[in-house]
Amino acid sequence: EKGGYDYFMLKEIVEQPRAVADTLLGRVGVDGTLTLDEMRLAPQELREISKIIIIACGTSYHAGLIAKYAIEHWCRIPCEVEVASEFRYRDPILDRQTLVIAISQSGESMDTLMAVRYAREQHSRVLAICNVNGSTIPREADGVLYTHAGPEVGVAATKTFLTQLVACYLVGLYLAQVRGTKFGDEINAVIEQLSRMPEQIEKVLGTVQPVRELAHSLSDARTVLFLGRHVGYPVAMEGALKLKELAYMHAEAFAAGELKHGSIALIEDGLPVVVVVPSREGRGVLHDKIVSNIQEIRARGAYTIVIAEEGDESVRPYSDVLIEIPAVPTLLQPIVATVPMQVFASELALAKGNDVDQPRNLAKSVTVE
Ligand code: M6R
Repeated sequence: EKGGYDYFMLKEIVEQPRAVADTLLGRVGVDGTLTLDEMRLAPQELREISKIIIIACGTSYHAGLIAKYAIEHWCRIPCEVEVASEFRYRDPILDRQTLVIAISQSGESMDTLMAVRYAREQHSRVLAICNVNGSTIPREADGVLYTHAGPEVGVAATKTFLTQLVACYLVGLYLAQVRGTKFGDEINAVIEQLSRMPEQIEKVLGTVQPVRELAHSLSDARTVLFLGRHVGYPVAMEGALKLKELAYMHAEAFAAGELKHGSIALIEDGLPVVVVVPSREGRGVLHDKIVSNIQEIRARGAYTIVIAEEGDESVRPYSDVLIEIPAVPTLLQPIVATVPMQVFASELALAKGNDVDQPRNLAKSVTVE
C-alpha cells in the first residue's frame, strides 16, 4: 500500500499533483466560474461578511497565514490568522458578520474544535476546511469545504497542506466573485493558473534530486534558518516546522525584512539558510529586497540555499545551491515552493535514520488540548 515507496510520506509527496487536481475537480468550470455550493454558506451571507478570522494549528496554521495574503488582496476583507490554542483565551471580537474559517486536516484537533465551539457561541459563521469526511469539526461548523487529498498516513502534513492552500484560494476567489471585487480580470487569470498547478507541482517533483543530495550533505548541521517575505514567509515557517518535526533539528523561520532587527547576528560561517525568493511578477520590489538580503547573509558566511523561479538569474551569483521552481503568480507560489522543503526535510530525516512516517513524540491527530 506504500506504492513501492519505503515510507508513506514519500508516496504522499509524489501524490500531490493528483491531490490538488482532485481538490479542484468539479469546482472550477471551463469558463472559470467557481461552484462551491457544498460550502452551505449562501452568497447573501458571504456578501455580509465584514471580517474573517482563520484558526488552525501547525501546518494548517501556515495554510491560514498564506490564505490571509490572498483573501485580503482579492476580497478586501480584513483577515486575521491565529493559532487555535490561543484564540479563545484572548476574548476575541466576534459577531454575526465575522466568518471564522477553521482549517484542520483531521477535523479532530481539539484546539481547533474548541475554538470552533467558542466562535459559534459568539454567533459567528464557521466554515471548516477539512480532509476527513464526517469528522467532528465539519460536523459542528456551519459549512465545510473538503480537501480531496485522500488519506494521509505520514504524521507530517504534505499533500493535505497543498490541498488546504487550494481550498483557501478557492474560498478567496469565490468570495471575490460573489462580492464583485474590483480584481475581476486578475481573478479569472488566477483561476486559470490554479487549474494548471498539478502540472507545475509535477515539474517541481521532476527536479528535486539535487535537493535530496543537499539534504544528505547537511545531515550534521546543528541548525537551519529559513527566510521569506510575503507568502514566502509562511512557506519558510512550514519548511522550518517540517525540519523540526522530521529531522529533530533546530530550525527557525524569519521574515527576511526582520533580519536586520536582530536575527542577522545569528549568521556565521557555514550556517545553512534556505531563502524563498518571491516571484518577480507583481512583486518586483520584494524580489529585489530579498536579493539584497541574500547578499547580506552570504557576505557574513551563510551557506545560501535559494528557492527561486526558473530563469531568475539575479540570485544565481549569491546562491550556493539554487533550487528552481516554475514561475507562477505570487499568491500561488507557496504551492510550488513548499515541495522542495518537504523533500529536504524528509531526506534529512532519512539521512539521520529517523522514521519519517512516525516522528518521535508526535501523533497524526492531536485530540487533547
Ligand atoms: O489535523 P490538523 O490539520 O488540525 O492538524 C494540525 C497540526 O497538528 C498538524 O498540521 C501538524 O502540525 C503536522 N504534523 C505538521 O506536519
